[in-house]
Amino acid sequence: MKYSRIVGIGSYLPEKVWRNDDLRALMDTSDEWIQQRTGIKQRHWVDQDSTEGTSDLALKAAVGALESAGVAKEELDLIVVATVSPDHEFPGTACFLQAKLGVSGIPALDVRQQCTGFLYAISIADQFIRTGTYKKVLVVGAEIHSRGLDKTTEGRDMSVLFGDGAGAVVMVATDDPNSSRVLSTHLHADGRFAKELWIPAPSNAGPGPRITEEHVRSGAIYGKMNGKSVFVHAAKRMPEAVNEALAANGFSLSDIDLFVFHQANLRINEMVAKQLGIPEEKVFNTIDRFANTTAATIPLGLHEALRVGKLKPGMLVATAAFGSGFTWGSALIRW
Ligand code: UT7
Repeated sequence: MKYSRIVGIGSYLPEKVWRNDDLRALMDTSDEWIQQRTGIKQRHWVDQDSTEGTSDLALKAAVGALESAGVAKEELDLIVVATVSPDHEFPGTACFLQAKLGVSGIPALDVRQQCTGFLYAISIADQFIRTGTYKKVLVVGAEIHSRGLDKTTEGRDMSVLFGDGAGAVVMVATDDPNSSRVLSTHLHADGRFAKELWIPAPSNAGPGPRITEEHVRSGAIYGKMNGKSVFVHAAKRMPEAVNEALAANGFSLSDIDLFVFHQANLRINEMVAKQLGIPEEKVFNTIDRFANTTAATIPLGLHEALRVGKLKPGMLVATAAFGSGFTWGSALIRW
């Protein structure tokens, strides 16, 4: 039997920080509204005049992960990048990252599963490792939201929520079931809710060309969200996903040392913790500082937890995410 072990982790946040009050120069909002409803105090956004792309953020996180793993880039067998904000519509951001890393020839795969993207990505890596196909896989979650937000009052319900950032892990094969490893991943989707959180355009579903002046004029190029629906479903699905992981592994909630949930809204995570009945000190949140970085929230959270000493070797870690699609899932990791 093969298992996958996370042996290295890295992350990167753009330098520029936008506090809630800074956003008032762009739109009609307030620190009080944002903090009360979401717990967000600030977010990192790339310099809008720079040419920094999602693959650049991914590269910095990936280099950190490889360094901490002591794995040379030439040893990698596969690159998986989860993102909803690719450098370009095609080819995938994993291809751009692969070129920047300088490891041509190995497969490079994009995962477009939104906030659950990182969990889908490590699940894919885990399956390739378990079957013995690959031994060393780089998995990255990276987003640049700031270039795609409507930063006017009209788009304030979405634009205050999102930040830029990247996180990466290196996963390697091990034969030892008792070593630190990914114990399980559980993935779900319900496409009936696809339009509860989505970007209408560019669209190959017509009518007409995939991008039109009307798309731009009407704001169809910006994300649209039914916030209340997302909130309600997230608060239900994330506890379900955690319980599913526990049942599959024969653990109970008290066995878990640390919960690192997706960071969409602090109030969602408080509700999830309450429903599960888990103590606050076991839940590690970063949303106050990093906001919602979609596919990057979980690796960023794991790395930050490690950095501040909340995550230690041997700990049992439960992660869960919910987002657009709707997609949701969980991963249980012996760190
Ligand atoms: O991974 C992404 C997944 N997304 C989520 O998980 C988000 C889940 N949903 C939520 O977190 C909440 O629905 C929000 C925080 C997005 C919104 O909270 P809400 O309590 O559902 O607010 P609302 O959309 O009902 O808006 C309430 C009021 C409205 O004004 P009126 O119509 O009551 O006068 C909005 O126009 O708040 C207004 N508003 C704002 N005011 C100041 C909306 N956005 C803002 C803003 N600043 N940024």
